Amino acid sequence: MKQFLYLLLGCCLAWSAPTAKAQTASSTSKAKNTAFKPGELWYDTEGNLINAHGGGVLLVGNTYYWYGEKRAQHQEEGVNVYSSKDLYNWKYEGVALTPATDAQSDIAAGCLMERPKVIYNQKTGKYVMWFHLELKGQSYKAARAGVAVADKPTGPFRYVSSFRPNGNMSRDMGLFVDDDGAAYHIYSSRENYDLRLARLSADYLTPTTQDSLLFAKHREAPAVFKQGGKYYLLTSGCTGWAPNEASLHVADNLFGPWQLLGDPMTGPNAKLTYGGQSTYVLPVPGKKDAYIFMADRWNPKDLKDSRYLWLPVQFKAGQPTIDWLEQWDLGHFSKQL
Ligand code: GAL
Repeated sequence: MKQFLYLLLGCCLAWSAPTAKAQTASSTSKAKNTAFKPGELWYDTEGNLINAHGGGVLLVGNTYYWYGEKRAQHQEEGVNVYSSKDLYNWKYEGVALTPATDAQSDIAAGCLMERPKVIYNQKTGKYVMWFHLELKGQSYKAARAGVAVADKPTGPFRYVSSFRPNGNMSRDMGLFVDDDGAAYHIYSSRENYDLRLARLSADYLTPTTQDSLLFAKHREAPAVFKQGGKYYLLTSGCTGWAPNEASLHVADNLFGPWQLLGDPMTGPNAKLTYGGQSTYVLPVPGKKDAYIFMADRWNPKDLKDSRYLWLPVQFKAGQPTIDWLEQWDLGHFSKQL
């Protein structure tokens, strides 16, 4: 009898607990966001956690698109895309690039598509995605760049090709489009010891042979931005999923020379980039010198649960600095020094 009562009680608890939890989760998670909360859980407009790691953002008209790795606990499941008008609230638009069901494909399910970035090509009218591709079952050996195209920002993207740019290994990467429309691929090469830059072809689908070594300092997670005619480059050290110290370089020319400015993070935990790793720097239009530093705080035990750190880049005495803020909104940019 006692056993039966325990069983009954157990059933009631098991039945009621998740329901109560689910209600609380959806009522809070569907609330409209009005601020960035770095490192906190970030839900999309449907109340699901945003799954877009190692990502980047593209602005099309007045809509932002956020592309990033769709992660399961460990596996990578393609590239997700979200849209937003205000940068705080993101609508899930689906999988922009889906791994292939054909086991012979370079992007066969089980491959790794990391750090996807999308740019728009004015001449061809196509959205072009570049990503770091690792072939299924080969860990990080292939070290290739992959390219896909789409007619719409939400995709579907069609896989085009993958290669080692000009024969160089290519792992962590970013893209940068300059004011004249020329686009560049910046990538970690030679087992991540070298950081290289290649100018892309006019259609953005291939690297040109204008490809050179920027420096050999064993850096990765590159993110380039331009302010006041100067180019800035954020990178991380190479410690896998574990955080390390960021560094900032500046140059008058994308191909260098790049001068080291040091670590732009300040305050507690700055030496570990607040637990994150750079992925992209987003210029915010309509505001002077407004840039958002985007980073991933990886959780290698459950990659989909990795968190996002979005922080404002502030120009103090002309130098970009990135302070830690628990919470902030775009109004912060008008308060700059
Ligand atoms: C990091 C890299 C990530 C991912 C990870 C795997 O260094 O930045 O994108 O490749 O290694 O360990």
